[in-house]
Amino acid sequence: MNDYMITVVLSSGRKNSNSSGMANRLAAAAVKAGGAIERYDLAKMDFKGCTGCGSCRSTTDSCVIRDDLSPLLASLKRADAVVLASPNYYGYVSGTFKSFLDRWYSLRDAERNLRLPSGRPLAFLMAQGHPDPAGYKNTIDSMTTIFTAYGFDTKTVIGAGLQGPGELAEREELISDLDALGEELSSNLRKNQ
Ligand SMILES: Cc1cc2nc3c(=O)[nH]c(=O)nc-3n(C[C@H](O)[C@H](O)[C@H](O)COP(=O)(O)O)c2cc1C
Repeated sequence: MNDYMITVVLSSGRKNSNSSGMANRLAAAAVKAGGAIERYDLAKMDFKGCTGCGSCRSTTDSCVIRDDLSPLLASLKRADAVVLASPNYYGYVSGTFKSFLDRWYSLRDAERNLRLPSGRPLAFLMAQGHPDPAGYKNTIDSMTTIFTAYGFDTKTVIGAGLQGPGELAEREELISDLDALGEELSSNLRKNQ
């Protein structure tokens, strides 16, 4: 039985992506005992960045751009939990991920009230070549600030020292951290049923 739904967003364009592998691993652990995943792979989707038209904060209650992000933005509103994954590109999230994030502007109304429920868990997963997990603290802080502003209770896992595709498979400790976070998410979601 699907007691809850987790929206998973991937944003790497390459095969055997480390960040996508991290998200898929965590999400699989989170739905092992029930629950459903709605998975969106941004690299395979056709969408625009925010144009800053402001309609979503004045005349409409959602983004006026109708493209492949429309069902994803709707999925974010229904989800019980959210898993977001990005490779680290030049010290920040991928451009694809950032374009997705800019469209979150439509998730607040004219009075800046949220169009999303508050207090839901969000896991942010980043894969990076840099071996130090604290190497991009400003980026993690910046992402957490945005997710918190949209009502999410954020946990971050950094896959540090992952350079080539598929390297996640060699990282037992990281994989077990992802499994543990997925199981914790599952048990919290079950408690709230
Ligand atoms: C355009 C580009 C920029 C990158 N910039 C950084 C960087 O600034 N710091 C870093 O640690 N790794 C950087 N990397 C390495 C990636 O973060 C690393 O290969 C990661 O595992 C990619 O995740 P993915 O497999 O999910 O695509 C960069 C890779 C690319 C392709």
